[in-house]
Amino acid sequence: MKFFIDTANLDQIKEAQDLGVLDGVTTNPSLMAKEGITGKENIIAHYKKICDIVTGDVSAEVISTDFDGIVKEGEELAKLHDQIIVKVPMIKEGVKAIKYFSDKGIKTNCTLVFSVGQALLAAKAGATYVSPFIGRLDDISTDGLNLIAEIRMVYDNYGFDTQILAASVRHTMHVIDCAKIGADVMTGPLSSIEGLLKHPLTDIGLAKFLADYKKGN
Ligand code: G3P
Repeated sequence: MKFFIDTANLDQIKEAQDLGVLDGVTTNPSLMAKEGITGKENIIAHYKKICDIVTGDVSAEVISTDFDGIVKEGEELAKLHDQIIVKVPMIKEGVKAIKYFSDKGIKTNCTLVFSVGQALLAAKAGATYVSPFIGRLDDISTDGLNLIAEIRMVYDNYGFDTQILAASVRHTMHVIDCAKIGADVMTGPLSSIEGLLKHPLTDIGLAKFLADYKKGN
């Protein structure tokens, strides 16, 4: 299972990279704005900074909604760095663009996916990753994890290569449940990854080992 961090915050990206378990980064226009990164030139410069920190895939989102615009933007983004994955929304023009990019060997992440049907379309179009937003489904009383399970089943039925990237992960239990279901990737905040470390018996056990060591020295 790949771990991506879902942020545009360079300090958090560095911290996750230093932990040694980071496989990539996902961003979106909202995450960029949260860090105060606005305007095309600044956003592009920021993608380059992220690529310098991590060794894995970095999703960069297009903001066009028409085929020609998505293709133009996506091709520009893909040229920035070989780690860039072009993030395309699940809309009709987006599906066409994903097929276009797939035929050209440009990797894509189909974003804003909320149903199995949308995930099926993304796979048919040749998306490298599909991003079902589980947290946002949970927010409206719909089981986000169930969507991951259903997409897993459909993709396995037909052997689709598209990787299921569980997105809008909010906490550590999401990460664990996605792993049980068989999501290929999860993207979440640093706290969702660091939460995996925690167990009180580890802390108690370590404190005792260290105290006992001191007794003999
Ligand atoms: O990966 C998608 C993500 O950025 C959305 O997360 O927490 O805004 O639903 P959230």
